[in-house]
Amino acid sequence: MNITAGTKARRSTPADPATLDPEELMSRDELEALQLQRLQHTVAYAYERVPMYRSKFDEAGVHPSDLKELADLAKFPYTDKEDLRRAYPFGMFAVPQQEVARIHASSGTTGRPTVVGYTKGDLRRWEDLFARSLRASGVKPGWKVHNAYGYGLFTGGLGAHYGAEKLGCTVIPMSGGQTEKQIQLIADFEPDAILCTPTYLLTIVDAMEHAGIDPSATSLKVAVLGAEPWTEEMRRELESRLDIDACDIYGLSEVMGPGVAGECIDYKDGSTIWEDHFRPEIVDPVTNAVLADGESGELVFTSLTKEAMPVIRYRTHDLTRLLPGTGRPNMRRIGRITGRSDDMIILRGVNLFPTQIEEIALRIPGLSPHFQLELTRPARMDELTVRIERREDCTPETAAQAAKELAAQIKIHVGSSCRIEIAEPGTLARSSGKLRRIYDLRNQT
Ligand code: DLL
Repeated sequence: MNITAGTKARRSTPADPATLDPEELMSRDELEALQLQRLQHTVAYAYERVPMYRSKFDEAGVHPSDLKELADLAKFPYTDKEDLRRAYPFGMFAVPQQEVARIHASSGTTGRPTVVGYTKGDLRRWEDLFARSLRASGVKPGWKVHNAYGYGLFTGGLGAHYGAEKLGCTVIPMSGGQTEKQIQLIADFEPDAILCTPTYLLTIVDAMEHAGIDPSATSLKVAVLGAEPWTEEMRRELESRLDIDACDIYGLSEVMGPGVAGECIDYKDGSTIWEDHFRPEIVDPVTNAVLADGESGELVFTSLTKEAMPVIRYRTHDLTRLLPGTGRPNMRRIGRITGRSDDMIILRGVNLFPTQIEEIALRIPGLSPHFQLELTRPARMDELTVRIERREDCTPETAAQAAKELAAQIKIHVGSSCRIEIAEPGTLARSSGKLRRIYDLRNQT
């Protein structure tokens, strides 16, 4: 087990097998039989009820009756964010509006937001799956849970809220931001678990230290973190500074929201996909071919139980791998998400993700996890500047050495040269939710 000794007696324990859902305990064969049955239903349901799917299937020359085994899914066309945008706002819904109990939307950096809808049944399944994810991550019924995911159209806040209530926890609906108040409530209400993005937890930890509070002495035992890519190095940073267990939770609005996959505290080896509700595939983002388990590519999901907005072969743009089940042997895991294909920086022919910089920087003593990547094009050549804060206890001289080391390591591991700028502690923008790491000024320089 991965629970390291700390000042807290014992942080948490894995879920008691007696409390798991029957689907978590099925054999792989039983699970695949369930998937096939649900998949056949979903594909026919989407074809009958959503004009976009009917015309796409017809155009591709496939019919729901062609889905005889799981592998037949590959015959069906992909769905992309653009399809959802074209159907804005409600064109993807498979039920009349009166049956839609809630709407969420993902902000989308450009253009229209992507709108998603839920029936009452969808909301029930969502809270069940979020509760399942929390349970896998060591959160217990009866615990106090501080929810610092943003409430509103974002699926993080309300998804986590109802999931934690469903598990039987006492929810503190704090939402994101107001960091001083967060710290005060953590001190006064003594929650056992915190739910937020990894970079926001970092903001909270820093602010605690500034206020003279020892982050490792709080009541917190577990953090369930997601909504943005993060690394094992960041896990270690947060676990050691707070003396907690930090587990991953994954999801996206279009497929449901948070809780599509959740990480088992006793393994901490990537989130288990709740395969009784979602059929995952990994595809080559360029050729669109389906790849074998273990190969890296783009994650694609087909929903198996959604009513208001079924999704067929939805392209997430998240780059990762499918790994064999561990904590739940019948369900596959996702490896760490390297990043989104649309967030990939192409620097003079070299592909680069912010997670690679995070991984390298956090291994160098003296450098903090606070960094930004700035892209410019001063003389028709792309340039990358990594602006990174030194740690408080690192002198400017040591930081200058660390900067050289960072540039050298980036050159070795990523293959591109870059400029490093050391920033003073506390000067770079802090996260209150999903952190923006990339500043692309190439069209302005
Ligand atoms: O971020 C849902 C969520 C809320 C997940 C709270 C976990 C916790 P969207 O705003 O639609 O939904 O953004 C989805 O965020 O496609 C990934 O690129 C990224 N993402 C979500 N979870 C993780 C994770 C929510 N655990 C997009 N690791 C996804 C890496 C993640 N990236």
